This record gives sequence, structure tokens and C-alpha cells, in this order.
Amino acid sequence: MTFSRAIKIAPSILSADFANFGAEIRAIEAQGADWVHVDVMDNHFVPNLTFGPALCRAIRPHIKTVMDVHLMISPVDAFITAYAEAGADVITAHLEAGPHIHRTLQAIRGTGKKAGLAINPGTGIDAVAHLLDLTDLVCVMTVNPGFGGQKFISSQLDKICALRAMIGDRPIHIEIDGGVTIETAPLVTAAGADILVAGSAVFAGGSAENPAPYGTNIAALRRAAQTAAT
Ligand code: DX5
Ligand code: ZN
Repeated sequence: MTFSRAIKIAPSILSADFANFGAEIRAIEAQGADWVHVDVMDNHFVPNLTFGPALCRAIRPHIKTVMDVHLMISPVDAFITAYAEAGADVITAHLEAGPHIHRTLQAIRGTGKKAGLAINPGTGIDAVAHLLDLTDLVCVMTVNPGFGGQKFISSQLDKICALRAMIGDRPIHIEIDGGVTIETAPLVTAAGADILVAGSAVFAGGSAENPAPYGTNIAALRRAAQTAAT
């Protein structure tokens, strides 16, 4: 993957039909998705439970773009190899998931995958400064993790601006996750983000059998994001 800061839309399959992941993934990619965002939750780090490495392995053959695995789990280190072997292209761990995030990022890089660092709304970016040499993507949570369809936390916009300044011209993506809509998309790209995760805003009104709304939603998000991209 060569680095580009061009705007990318990464639908989260947390909002997809759980009985139809393969068809849903083929549909969103055919309708313009740039990445596929996979929300792994353990009902310990976040108050929800989704899916494990076996599901990631099962959906990998249906993903032609990038499998962007967001690990909302703690402890996380024991599972890094399993998600790498399941086919993840990007493995994102939460800074808050344990005491040794530096070692976690080293372990992700050690699998040969891209390393993502996610930070919750309550977490500042000071610690990120010491991790940039091990990071390919910083995921700024704009909701408290655990569920789709939540309201965007606008206080995070200042954090995104500050993070963009800290990153400078390093090849590190800024991914925004939570409450991304056509209203909030331009706010986050104006602040310096380049990858927009969207669950409810992409899957609204469509289905694998009726995927056209997915394309309309993705195109609308991209248009809104590009109006303000820095
Ligand atoms: C929340 C997840 C997000 C969520 C996004 O914990 O990490 O990826 O699925 O869903 P929306 O776009 O509906 O906020
Ligand atoms: Zn996510």
C-alpha cells in the first residue's frame, strides 16, 4: 500500500446485516467503499460483543480493498497474531487497552501489518508523540466505543487539528470513527482527517439485495468530505 492522504470512506460492518456479511461486503465495495472497517468488541474493553478471528478469516476472501480491523479488546497482545493470520491489513489497538501500547504496536508491526493506534474521546494526544515511529494510522474516536449510530462528539475536532499538526508530513493516516455523517464529514476533513469510518450513514436505506443506497450514501459522504479537505 503506497501512502496517500486522499479521502477514503471506510464503512463499518457493525451496521451491516450480520446474517449476510459476504454479500454486504461485496455490495459496499461495488458501491465505492475504499476500506472495510471491522469492529471487534469483547464486552470487556467496551460494553458490547461482536466477532473474533474466525469471522475475520471467513470474510477476508470477500474483501478486495483493505481489511481495517479495529480491536476494541483488552488485553489485546494475545490476539494480534490471530487477526494478522485471519487476513487483516491494518490492525488497530486502543492506547487505553493496556499498560504497554509501545510493545503492542511493535507486535503489530512484527506481523508485517499496518499498525493503528486508537484513542478514546477522553484521551489526549500527548502519548501519541512517543509512538509515531511505530504507527501507520491514528484512529480518533468521535464516539465512546461500543455501538454504531451514536452522536458525534464535536469536542474532538480540536484534538484532530492538534494531531494533524503533530504528524506533519509523516506517512500516518488520521482515521475518524463514530458519528460520521454528511454534516460531520467536512468538519473532520477540515481538521486534517483523511479516512472516515461510517456505519449507520453508509448502510442506511440499503441492503445487499438493494445496494444502490450504499453507493448514494458513500458518494454523499465523499462529496461532503472533499468540500473541506485540507
Ligand atoms: C464504535 C465503532 C465504530 C462504529 C461507527 O465503537 O468503532 O466504527 O461502528 O458507527 P457509526 O458510523 O454509525 O457511528
Ligand atoms: Zn470502529
